[in-house]
Amino acid sequence: MADMDGFREANNFGFGQTAQFDSFHVKGASNLPWGMKDRLSRIFNPKTGRVVMLAFDHGFIMGPTSGLERIDLNIVPLIQYADCIMCTRGILQSSVPANINKPVCLRSDAGTTILTELNRNVLIDVEDAIRFNASAMAVMFSAGDGEQEAITAANLVEAADLGNRYGIPVMGVTAVGKQMARDARYFALASRVCAENGASIVKTYYCEGFEKVAAACPVPIVIAGGKKLPEKEALELCYNAVNDGAVGVDMGRNVFQSENPAAMIQAVHAVVHDGLTPEQGYEMFQDLSK
Ligand code: R5P
Repeated sequence: MADMDGFREANNFGFGQTAQFDSFHVKGASNLPWGMKDRLSRIFNPKTGRVVMLAFDHGFIMGPTSGLERIDLNIVPLIQYADCIMCTRGILQSSVPANINKPVCLRSDAGTTILTELNRNVLIDVEDAIRFNASAMAVMFSAGDGEQEAITAANLVEAADLGNRYGIPVMGVTAVGKQMARDARYFALASRVCAENGASIVKTYYCEGFEKVAAACPVPIVIAGGKKLPEKEALELCYNAVNDGAVGVDMGRNVFQSENPAAMIQAVHAVVHDGLTPEQGYEMFQDLSK
């Protein structure tokens, strides 16, 4: 792994700062074709440059995990509060009304489940992303995970190639390699590799030193919420992430496993877009929960 001092020197050019030449509101997208920019503009609010993605793609590896048992009852009512949704084609076509008028970040790979170990991912047909009018394709990159690293890197490259051909941005979804610690070194490498291979968005995790992860990634980073936290802590996570360079969140379990999911996603949205502090966000959550 590269020496951290050299890393710090080379990349410490400010938290969340976009590159000087960027005139488009999405980091690193100035040179992209019109169609890619149009799709990215549907995802990232042109006023704030930020996004709250509601992630409910978990079933492709976890099955009907808690909070996702009934998409029609548990999730569809929350979509109105999200800027973008992240889910699989199977859920879109079976359970999500086509008149939600929200951009879709389509989960565009699939592989083994949590019953074995996440492995041997394959890409879905890119024509499905076109048919579903996807605004982005989400594809996992599993850094440091032996054979899976090579497979997922190849998937990411292929998805970026096809995305470039059809004007559909790719979001690289960094997994955590089995043996790796979830630290800034790891996420800086995983995020940068996604961007180097052509991803226009990266989804990763918040960590200590995250500001350097974001600064060293030439495309926007959204953070996953990870396992369910107490609501106040989850709002702190959102607040810290966007203040350390993330452009938003791709949150699932901390919304749909909340005691009040509708209140939680509205509080997350206010923290991400309106600059509420975690305390203000939690107060909003409590008020909406009454
Ligand atoms: C995991 O299956 C997906 O990558 C999720 O989209 C991602 O982890 C965000 O969901 P959560 O906030 O529950 O981690």
